[in-house]
Amino acid sequence: MNVHAKPNAPVLDSYWMPFTANRQFKAAPRMLVSAEGMHYTSDDGRRVLDGTAGLWCVNAGHGRREIASAVERQLSALDYAPSFQMGHPVAFDFAERLAAIAPGPEGRKLDRVFFTGSGSESVDTALKIAVAYQRTIGQGTRTRLIGRERGYHGVGFGGISVGGLVNNRRVFPQLPGTDHLRHTHDIARNSFVRGQPEHGAELADDLERLVALHGAETIAACIVEPVAGSTGVLVPPKGYLERLRAICDRHGILLVFDEVITGFGRLGAPFAADHFGVLPDLVTTAKGLTNGALPMGAVFAGRHVHDALMQGPEGAIELFHGYTYSGHPAACAAGIATLDIYESEGLLTRVAAIQEDWHAAIHSLADLPNVVDIRTIGLIAGIELKSRDGAMGARAYDVFVDCFEKGLLIRVTGEIVALSPPLIAETGHIHEMVETLRASIETIR
Ligand SMILES: Cc1ncc(COP(=O)(O)O)c(C=O)c1O
Repeated sequence: MNVHAKPNAPVLDSYWMPFTANRQFKAAPRMLVSAEGMHYTSDDGRRVLDGTAGLWCVNAGHGRREIASAVERQLSALDYAPSFQMGHPVAFDFAERLAAIAPGPEGRKLDRVFFTGSGSESVDTALKIAVAYQRTIGQGTRTRLIGRERGYHGVGFGGISVGGLVNNRRVFPQLPGTDHLRHTHDIARNSFVRGQPEHGAELADDLERLVALHGAETIAACIVEPVAGSTGVLVPPKGYLERLRAICDRHGILLVFDEVITGFGRLGAPFAADHFGVLPDLVTTAKGLTNGALPMGAVFAGRHVHDALMQGPEGAIELFHGYTYSGHPAACAAGIATLDIYESEGLLTRVAAIQEDWHAAIHSLADLPNVVDIRTIGLIAGIELKSRDGAMGARAYDVFVDCFEKGLLIRVTGEIVALSPPLIAETGHIHEMVETLRASIETIR
């Protein structure tokens, strides 16, 4: 019998759940019914500490009244307005606010902002902008898109084509003309590292190999997550991103950072581009953009990219691309209220002050059985477990279920536990997470 079954529990048949083992879940559901600050409440009334900021998105913590009020006001004033050949002020206001914190030094900021509805849409948008840009500057043969093994860029056909997760790819056809860099994960040389690993900058040279293989004149863009999250927290080796930037420059390839999880303070700076001091040409975002309160994404583009496309007759649509919900008024209002919170509470840089405690607390789990690696950066941690024979991912999944029973929400991918709590986490929350995980990893064999 399902221990969580409640007298008024919803019927579970109709909802086809995303990225979920539907039958397994429906046999023993885990339901969240409310949230406040660092905690969820489950349908059996337990408080569950949020070790994952929802899905890497609730950076300012849950239940922020300022966001709810802003959305309510906006929906009452203007619930929806089209953004094709029409405008509404809140979208322009939000773009200006984002431009002010956009990555890059004054004069080179990526301060042109295209709104989307999600991270996947941001990725497809950035890839299309890159191809359109190359064409407009007379490089129309550049249509190839380079991603990276173990990259995750959402689930659109563009995103899975440049992504490097086999389960997201094996069933589906992909865009022609994509290729992949080698991933940077190398436990043999870099294990139990705090921050960036020492070894592996030379893996960026793999882009030179692809240039030699395909010809630079066929390559539009290279997209990477500065820190790969969904594939198990893979931190770029020291010097790697710099080298990738240099190779892109050498060959006229646009560099796209997918900052859907690293954007908005996760590494202790507004963007990973700021943290690593490497400026791409385009940045994709979503998630923390609205604190997860409403679905929304944004692509930040450098002026060189944007301005190149602002060509031709004034009456011509410069980029044939956009979504019904691009710049949705309620999402923009949520985003502005979110930025207000980030700014007033210093959340875009708070992690810089707490990350040492985070690293130390998480790395204290290194001596536990079956822990083969721990990596931390900013307010992110990946704890890699040893697989049981012939059962890849089973141990981590059991830890996930056990932690939930114990009152902690974690995320697992394969055999890796990924943690990314809200950026408001206090020392007590961090220690609670670590102690719950310790108890769980010790018992789950
Ligand atoms: C780096 C990265 N890109 C894109 C996405 C896709 O975002 P969404 O699920 O909002 O489409 C994600 C989601 O986790 C992500 O981590």
